[in-house]
Amino acid sequence: MEIFNEISPLRAFLKQARMSGKTLGFVPTMGALHDGHLSLLKVAKLENDITICSIYVNPAQFNNPSDLSKYPRTIVRDSDMLKKVECDILFNPIDEEIYPDSPQIKFDFGQLDKVMEGHFRPGHFSGVALVVAKLFNIVEPNNVYFGQKDWQQFTIIKRMVQELKFNLELKSIPTTREADGLALSSRNLRLNPTQRGQAHILYEALSFAKEQLWKERHDFPSVYQSVQEMFRDIPGVRLEYFELVDSINLKSISNVDEANHPILCIAAYFGEVRLIDNMFLQ
Ligand code: PAJ
Repeated sequence: MEIFNEISPLRAFLKQARMSGKTLGFVPTMGALHDGHLSLLKVAKLENDITICSIYVNPAQFNNPSDLSKYPRTIVRDSDMLKKVECDILFNPIDEEIYPDSPQIKFDFGQLDKVMEGHFRPGHFSGVALVVAKLFNIVEPNNVYFGQKDWQQFTIIKRMVQELKFNLELKSIPTTREADGLALSSRNLRLNPTQRGQAHILYEALSFAKEQLWKERHDFPSVYQSVQEMFRDIPGVRLEYFELVDSINLKSISNVDEANHPILCIAAYFGEVRLIDNMFLQ
């Protein structure tokens, strides 16, 4: 595996590959890699001649400074994992390479970044879009792989690609989960054993709500109340949002017949650790 910390040598290397007709598959990450990230890389490997993974903890997308400073950084382990799945290129830039000056550009995605993650983490998606646009311009990939776990992020990047006419294909890959249903996340490393036990409630709430909405045809407000009760009285755990939305435009809906592809989205705190998850209803 080739490792690049700087943009110019990476660009030169990739230009050469492109000129010899090779296709490029790209997986952007913030590191602390787990099997969820690796599942994206495995698909990228199958569908492209060359697979590139970036690891960069992007300060512009953290609205909470302590979340940024506590974000797990495990680059040695990450690079071993990438070698094992035969990733061809690791791009691991330093801040000065990505942000030589403080960024001036802000993105506004209308409704898409005003709800859920965008509502509770103001500026987050502007920072995500900024770094992803930079990475797309650096790597110029044919195919890019994102996880369904961050569905709102995928929806926003899709919009950016359409509006800015990036010449690439976006793919979304299903969520990899632990045996008890907890979605793999780099932030899971920060959970203590009690919180790790509690975190299963995210999947439990999503599965329960799916059943109630889909099979029992209950309306969302009543399901929401039951989910709120599930979270009540668990020490150190706080439900931040639980929503049923149309997965295309992210508008709230009150029952499954209102949208073609309804999705349930959830965010909760376990102590200081904030986790998100979602589930499609079809
Ligand atoms: P990060 O949280 O490291 O996630 C990198 C990619 O892995 C994202 O597309 C995410 O959706 C996917 N992913 C995370 N957990 C997953 C799981 N359990 N199963 C499948 N895929 C999973 O998302 C980011 O980084 C950043 O915002 C980034 C796009 C890199 C921009 O900084």
